[in-house]
Amino acid sequence: MVITIGSVKGGVGKSTIATTLAVFLSQKSDNKVMLIDADSQGTSCYFTSLRQEQRGTAGYTSVELTGNKLHEEIRSLVRRYDDIVVDVGGRDTASQRAALAVSDAYVVPLSLQAFDIWALRDVLELLDQLKPFNPNLTTFFVANRTDYRGTKSSAFEEMATSIEEAYGISLLPHTLSNRIAYSKAAGTGYTVLDPEYANQEPKAVAEVTTLFNHITQALEKR
Ligand SMILES: Nc1ncnc2c1ncn2[C@@H]1O[C@H](COP(=O)(O)OP(=O)(O)O)[C@@H](O)[C@H]1O
Ligand SMILES: [Mg+2]
Repeated sequence: MVITIGSVKGGVGKSTIATTLAVFLSQKSDNKVMLIDADSQGTSCYFTSLRQEQRGTAGYTSVELTGNKLHEEIRSLVRRYDDIVVDVGGRDTASQRAALAVSDAYVVPLSLQAFDIWALRDVLELLDQLKPFNPNLTTFFVANRTDYRGTKSSAFEEMATSIEEAYGISLLPHTLSNRIAYSKAAGTGYTVLDPEYANQEPKAVAEVTTLFNHITQALEKR
């Protein structure tokens, strides 16, 4: 599966989700995972090298690849890897468009703040333009940094309803809460799914596992 984590906005949680998803997928036995860092800022690659230093091995392979030929590179990597996760930059770039042309899924994180919600218009325009090139792309809109009450929060429900009315899209019911654990783990080359954090952070483990299971199962059913 090729899963691109993207947006036209920075700071929404793309790299957090991309690195955690790469670890999640790599924890499945015999699963060969490639994390492509298509953001010139290099967050995912930097995280991966830190992770290698800490653990001896990252558990997956990471490479920095950008540009309008990215789809060709992904096509050749598909033969060698079971899963490919692409972390793109926070703008509408040639890399993001190229990655989406050959992706099975597009995961779009957003906070429930006005600026992130307004950016949905540009994401939907991008999807509209890409549709002829990849009609099978499945898009998942994920609310990130929600408050702890998660899906049961009436604030989330209200926001999800107003987004649905304004933009005609549904947010996934599975959200990621605003938890210091995500950035704390990332800063040390780990994710909340690693044993070093998982025991202290059962709620974070539960929410990312629920989200990633939902996405992978939805893709398997296609
Ligand atoms: N669910 C979350 N809870 C707390 N902090 C988060 C969460 N998601 C992301 N962050 C933090 O927000 C900042 C931006 O996230 P990042 O994944 O780098 O976004 P992007 O790749 O979209 O620019 C980082 O400092 C990250 O640790
Ligand atoms: Mg990033």
